[in-house]
Amino acid sequence: MSILIQNGRVITATDDYHADIFIEDEKISLIGKSLKMEADKVIDAKGKYVIPGGIDPHTHFDMPFGGTMSADDFESGPRAAAFGGTTCVIDFAIQTKGESTLQGLDTWHAKAAVGKKPLIDYGFHMIITDMPDSRLGEMRTLADEGVTSYKLFMAYPGVLYVDDGTLYRAFRQAGENGTRICMHAENGIVIDEIIKEAVADGHTEPKWHGLTRPTRMEAEGVYRSIAIAEVANVPLYIVHLSCSDALEEVKRARMRGVNVLAETCPQYLFLDKSYYEKEGFEGAKWVMTPALREKWNQDELWQGLKFRDLETIATDHCPFCFKEQKELGLETFTKIPNGAPGVENRMSLIYNGGVVKGRMDLNRFVEVTSTAAAKAFGLFPKKGTIAVGTDADIVIFDPERKETISVDNPCTHHMRVDFSAYEGFEVQGFTETVLSRGRVIIEKNEQKVEGGGNFIKRALVNSRLD
Ligand code: URP
Ligand code: ZN
Ligand code: ZN
Repeated sequence: MSILIQNGRVITATDDYHADIFIEDEKISLIGKSLKMEADKVIDAKGKYVIPGGIDPHTHFDMPFGGTMSADDFESGPRAAAFGGTTCVIDFAIQTKGESTLQGLDTWHAKAAVGKKPLIDYGFHMIITDMPDSRLGEMRTLADEGVTSYKLFMAYPGVLYVDDGTLYRAFRQAGENGTRICMHAENGIVIDEIIKEAVADGHTEPKWHGLTRPTRMEAEGVYRSIAIAEVANVPLYIVHLSCSDALEEVKRARMRGVNVLAETCPQYLFLDKSYYEKEGFEGAKWVMTPALREKWNQDELWQGLKFRDLETIATDHCPFCFKEQKELGLETFTKIPNGAPGVENRMSLIYNGGVVKGRMDLNRFVEVTSTAAAKAFGLFPKKGTIAVGTDADIVIFDPERKETISVDNPCTHHMRVDFSAYEGFEVQGFTETVLSRGRVIIEKNEQKVEGGGNFIKRALVNSRLD
């Protein structure tokens, strides 16, 4: 199968030019001006941007959490991602405490194999919930299986939390193996004490989720994990960084030359703690961890993106329906499942809030939504750019099209969740056509095929994936 994309404006993290792109089977085979190739299919991209498919390095499909399961599985989640212009996700497999991480990986491979299978390519990080010396060898096996990054939690005591000793052991091993640590950096032990105080004082409403998670406790987690990573000599990646306090710790470490990258998410760039004040129980929709912060933090995060102290924008897509799932916490905020939807809206939100609003240029938009994640997580240059020999994961993006994000707008909501975290947001810039390894999976906002996404074995840190 061959495809010729004509007349588009090709934008990568470094380039911006008009050219045609010729695709044979899964790869880009030629880029040039006015190509005269015979092709099975010709796509006219006049007036459109031709960009690398988005890479979302932080999703939770089919995840057991908070007494329920995240509402998108490996069929609905990747489909929604694709409609929004994302062609690769890195989801989180979980080690059951006391069991093998390899078993956790098998379980997540099985989840992704159910039904029509993912529409787009995917990888896995491994969430480590304990790591005795006897299991350290598994981390090398995971890396050989293409799972070259691990997430550990300082938050959620009794659930996913691990102590500093476990952090250090896992960090050392990950560093030795040439892999990366992803850190949920928040002092969950202190936060649990603050929650106990709030509960004892009779507080039950959703807003108390935010009030019991001070930004200083995120900053402390960032500081501590960086210190441990420095001693253990492992590259660190702070996930879902939400506030200025935490960003300051990243900046300080990077000034010292520490190998730490940080990710933020659209929810921290566009939403703020006032969402918790909504009528009745509605604030539960935005109960996520870290919590939404005071609005002024948003400007600091945009600055962090501008000055490259923030590397990537992921979604932390972890949706729970308002009815029946978020409602598990009707009696107390401590029982509201933590997480929010967003995998479908990331590209438009960042294009609109970043490029249209003048906060970043087009190259930086591509970098933060695709290339930087590919580089951080061993997918580059196979993914994350447009060049001869790379996977034809391509988005044809209409920079002029406007949409209003809504659970009721069939163009903006394919996620299997009964609300939108960005309800009523008007965005300019919208995904029109999507190619995944040379297959047209979405064309003019219509899904064209089912399944076909592959598990991608990722390379080690600083290695190439061709
Ligand atoms: O609230 C969130 N973020 N839920 C998903 C789990 C995590 O901490 O990433
Ligand atoms: Zn987390
Ligand atoms: Zn997460």
